[in-house]
This record gives sequence, structure tokens and C-alpha cells, in this order.
Amino acid sequence: MPSSFTYLGHSTVLCELDNGLRILIDPWVQNNPACPKNLHELHSIQVVLITHGHPDHMGDVVKICTEYNPQTVIASFEICQWLQTLGVKNTLAMGIGGSRLVDGCWISMVRADHSSSFLDGKGHFVYGGMASGYVITPPAGFTFYHAGDTGLFQDMKLIARLYHPKLAFLPIGDVFTMDPLQAALACNFLDLEMVVPIHWGTFPMLKGFPRDLVRELTKLNAPTEVLQLQPGDSWSM
Ligand code: NI
Ligand code: MN
Repeated sequence: MPSSFTYLGHSTVLCELDNGLRILIDPWVQNNPACPKNLHELHSIQVVLITHGHPDHMGDVVKICTEYNPQTVIASFEICQWLQTLGVKNTLAMGIGGSRLVDGCWISMVRADHSSSFLDGKGHFVYGGMASGYVITPPAGFTFYHAGDTGLFQDMKLIARLYHPKLAFLPIGDVFTMDPLQAALACNFLDLEMVVPIHWGTFPMLKGFPRDLVRELTKLNAPTEVLQLQPGDSWSM
């Protein structure tokens, strides 16, 4: 069976690798207004990856970990420490530049230009460490990259050089992240075959859409194919 991806809306992606490993990137599901209700039940999750502490990325982490008891929950050191105080088990802290082998799959934490913090429930902000993206290299199949929330940075060229992702999930909504033009340049820096636009359409203020990314890539004469997944859509290679 090939690797498959289900876009749960906003930045949340469920990946199922050909060895059966189910990886949930950015656990925001039940409270994610973009996530179709029929996908609120995830059945099983073995690995959770958290890009940063903002509620639209890890808002449902405690509920999801309680329900599915994943074998590995990867986040920054600071977020892992915090999650442990909330009773989340199996946390695995990482820092940018690091890689961990999880069930035959390499998970690498990479740079993102963004902030990471959250409210503790008493009105105080907790520092979440560095915001990040992840590169996932399965035991078979191709390498892919989830950028989390980020602006454009030239060092995406280093991500391409180090890991050679073939597909990336890139934010395009503008305001908090890259806009479609910047995401088109990111496709070029990353030398991507395929891109899935994320972080668009969830809130009215997010004004970049997948069709805008297609237009910007065409203007750049870039070869990257845009997989225009709607929330709830699955895609497999
Ligand atoms: Ni954010
Ligand atoms: Mn966000």
C-alpha cells in the first residue's frame, strides 16, 4: 500500500505510511472549524508531531493523546515538559537540526520563522521554545516536509540539500505565514515535485488560496505540481 495523506483542514495532516504507521501532524481536529465532522474520529494514531504551541496547531493534543495513546509525541523540549504536566505520556523532545528514528521512520526537526507560546489557562503566556517544521523520511517511499507556520527563508535550500523532500505541506494564507508568492518561491528553494497548500481558508483573514499559488508558480515557470486538497480529501502516491 502506498503512503497516503488526509488533509484535516488548516495545518492538520494525517499521514499513513506503507508500514501502517499513522502520524498526525498538528493535533487540532475536534475544535478545528475546517475539519469535517466525519473525520473527528481518527481510530488510531501512533505518532503525533507538534510544530509549535499555538492553539490552531496543538489545541486538541491532550484529548487526542488521551483517546489514542500514541507511542510517540514529538515537540520542542518546552512543549514536551508542559505536556507532561498535563499527563501526556511518551513525549520525545527535539530541537532544530535533530533527527529521531521512530518505527523505521526518520523524523527531522527543521527551522520555521514563527513564534511559539500558549496561554496556561490562568491568563499567563508559556514559552513554547522554537517553532519548527518536520521532515519525514519513511523506510520506503519518498521524503516529505511539513513547514508548520513560517515565513519564507533562504535556508529552505538547506532543507532541500539535506533531506531532498519530494512533497511539502506549505502555509499560504498570509497574515501569520507565507503568502502564495512566497510559497511559490519556497517551492523553488525546496526543488519540490509536489506541494499541498495549508493554513488557508480557515478564518476570513487568511486571504491566500490554492489557486493563487498555482498562478504564482505559473508566473515563475516553476515545475511544482499543486495538489489542491480540500479539508477531508485524501491523496496517495
Ligand atoms: Ni502559529
Ligand atoms: Mn497557525
